[in-house]
Amino acid sequence: MEARHKPLSQSENELATTNNNNNNNKRKKLCIGVCIAVCIAAVVLAMICIIVKYVFLTTKPGFILHPSDSLISYNSSHKDNVYITELNKFIKAYETLPSDSILCNDTTKPGPGESCQYREEWLGGVCKKDNSWGYTINNTHPCILVTPNMVPYWVPDTYKTEEELPEEMPQYLKNNIIDSIYDVGHISKFAWVSCEVLSGEGYCSLTPWFGFPDYFFPYNTNTNYRSPVLSARVDWRGAQKKYVKLRFQMWAKNLDPKETIQTITVEANQSN
Ligand SMILES: *[C@@H]1O[C@H](CO)[C@@H](O)[C@H](O)[C@H]1NC(C)=O
Ligand SMILES: *[C@@H]1O[C@H](CO)[C@@H](O)[C@H](O)[C@H]1NC(C)=O
Ligand SMILES: *[C@@H]1O[C@H](CO)[C@@H](O)[C@H](O)[C@H]1NC(C)=O
Repeated sequence: MEARHKPLSQSENELATTNNNNNNNKRKKLCIGVCIAVCIAAVVLAMICIIVKYVFLTTKPGFILHPSDSLISYNSSHKDNVYITELNKFIKAYETLPSDSILCNDTTKPGPGESCQYREEWLGGVCKKDNSWGYTINNTHPCILVTPNMVPYWVPDTYKTEEELPEEMPQYLKNNIIDSIYDVGHISKFAWVSCEVLSGEGYCSLTPWFGFPDYFFPYNTNTNYRSPVLSARVDWRGAQKKYVKLRFQMWAKNLDPKETIQTITVEANQSN
């Protein structure tokens, strides 16, 4: 009975301590191992997240608005502003025609090593650098430029018949598409873009097309590819308050148009 309560001898004590040390070392090693594993797992997870985000979020087909601000507020008495600067910078890439570019249409599409031409002058008489993109006092027709997202391999699945046009497509765009059936006998192959006035006064009109012709897709990195550009011109026609909120959307069978929605507010402050 007593033997049970006998204190441990010196050597037994030492043995216990080394056992403890051994256990501690094992635990420490295990801890470090687990930590490294957790770290590696976290890094791998973060990388997967970035890849997933890159593939599924940043490269979603849609369009980009230039200027990129969702509120364009400017004083039209001023000869210059940040929007004019941004648009001038953007258009630089279009000021020379790449040598590998050809004039495309429904029947003439780019071959290997070729890309379709886009000519700056197609943006129209108002939406151009020489006119300060419509942002100055004598030309209160501010312009927004629209380009498709550069999504590798993506090609719009275009609407083929009137019946395929979605219910929620703005009526003005539907009418224009249907009119073109009478002109050319079929629906042109476009990823359509709509621009609607949500609030305020004004009109929005797109030049040179109501969308992007399908021959500009897919985005080709092997050529001097230039995205097609649409100019969206705001026309206030003597509105009392130069303020308008616009909604842009892109339309094709392989797009969810709701997911492409972008709104932009344009207002001109003018003292006279
Ligand atoms: C398409 O372009 C080619 C070459 O520029 C031209 O010969 C042809 O007539 C064009 N077709 C249409 C339908 O405009
Ligand atoms: C606007 O037009 C008027 C008359 O045509 C001219 O006197 C004025 O300098 C112009 N203002 C700007 C900012 O271009
Ligand atoms: C617009 O700019 C002019 C000239 O600098 C200035 O007189 C005017 O007060 C400004 N208007 C507004 C609403 O900021």
